[in-house]
Amino acid sequence: MVDFNTKALHWGYIPGQHQKCLSPPIYQNTAFEFSSIEEAEALNTGKLFGHIYTRISNPTNEILESRVSALEGGISSIACASGHAAQFLVISTLLQAGDHIISSPYLYGGTYHQFKEQLPRLGIKVDFADPNNPSQVASKINNKTKLIYAESLGNPELNPVNIEALATVAHANKLPLVIDNTLGCCGYLIKPIRMGADIVISSLTKWAGGHGNAVGGIITDSGNFEWGNGTFPQFKEANSAYKGLSFWDEYGFGGPGCQRNRIPFYKNIAFSTRLRLEHLRDWGPCISPFNSYLILQGIETLGLRVERACHNALAIAKVLCNHESTQNTRYPGLENDKYHSIANQIMTNGYGTIITFELKDGYDAAAMLVNSLLIFKHAANIGDSKSLVLHPASTTHSQLSEKEQLDSGVTPSMIRLSIGIEGERDLIEDLEQGLNKVRHTYSNRSSG
Ligand SMILES: Cc1ncc(COP(=O)(O)O)c(C=O)c1O
Repeated sequence: MVDFNTKALHWGYIPGQHQKCLSPPIYQNTAFEFSSIEEAEALNTGKLFGHIYTRISNPTNEILESRVSALEGGISSIACASGHAAQFLVISTLLQAGDHIISSPYLYGGTYHQFKEQLPRLGIKVDFADPNNPSQVASKINNKTKLIYAESLGNPELNPVNIEALATVAHANKLPLVIDNTLGCCGYLIKPIRMGADIVISSLTKWAGGHGNAVGGIITDSGNFEWGNGTFPQFKEANSAYKGLSFWDEYGFGGPGCQRNRIPFYKNIAFSTRLRLEHLRDWGPCISPFNSYLILQGIETLGLRVERACHNALAIAKVLCNHESTQNTRYPGLENDKYHSIANQIMTNGYGTIITFELKDGYDAAAMLVNSLLIFKHAANIGDSKSLVLHPASTTHSQLSEKEQLDSGVTPSMIRLSIGIEGERDLIEDLEQGLNKVRHTYSNRSSG
């Protein structure tokens, strides 16, 4: 299987192993029966992989994990409660108080806040640096730095990141590159692992689920990073909860745990195994099997939906940049966009489904537009099949100061559109009627 759409429909699921059900069943189940005390011990000491309790793993969640791994090109994945939970699990697996992260500032507002306010409360410092300026990133690395972090396409700056250049800086300093690929749509638009990312995070709440009915997140391990390189002593140490198990010795390249699980000798599962067995188990943000089921159903049409929404988005971006009431229309697919050439380097199958723009007449005009739209729904989400509109400064990025908003790419009158799969003509008509209302109101005011 090579095609994204074929994998999205079939990977990780064999009906014959599930009562021949064609649609993956929901294993709405808390605990799993042990066949013997010996098996129970092997499972609970990490010597054998298998389902014990749904906080750690579950058969429906496992199908989702396997499918996203295949789409992202990773060796294994761990599904969890939300995109934010995925970020936290990666950070808790790799860092402790006193450690340091270098992150792109072009982040979803909630992530910016997690990094700026919550991590420092746990003793973890975050410095921000432009991800497309590798020497600026390199200049911030110190002996406490444990990872470099960026969104593959920032929300809402819409800056595609040169992942290869960033990975080169990270690897030269024995650090992993962690990429939030939510806007890269599980590899349909951006494939971070192919470009050198070590860990990929995604909010499955967005395009993957795609129908605005399930919150979920996932972490995908490329299997390429050498966790025994000295930067992360916790991978080598004997783990007291697992009878002295060293995650690197057991699940590092060629380790016995990799051999038992048929992991190729050039890949390792030390990170993903430790994350599941220690951090998902101890912190507890697991995904519900019902949400996994809904998201799996969404993934079946992910490629088709994103293809259609990208087509709509390009047409709408062209209309918006020619309207007399708008300014600074931003879409990486526009030839004059500041990120168009890097988008051509790293994006496949389209330029994404998010557009931002400003109203020339400022905040009040932006509010009038948002209140005038009929098909576009006013909601704090992206990646839904339905088109959505939002004013980030008063919603997703409202926790940030005005300077922080500007640093993360949000201006006071900016509007963000998440384009769905409706008919292109209806979406354009809806925007035009709203923009014309704004134009009439403001031209009457200036002439009155
Ligand atoms: C790029 C990005 N990453 C992470 C998140 C957080 O995801 P969740 O809402 O599933 O926690 C979001 C939410 O909008 C996002 O846009």
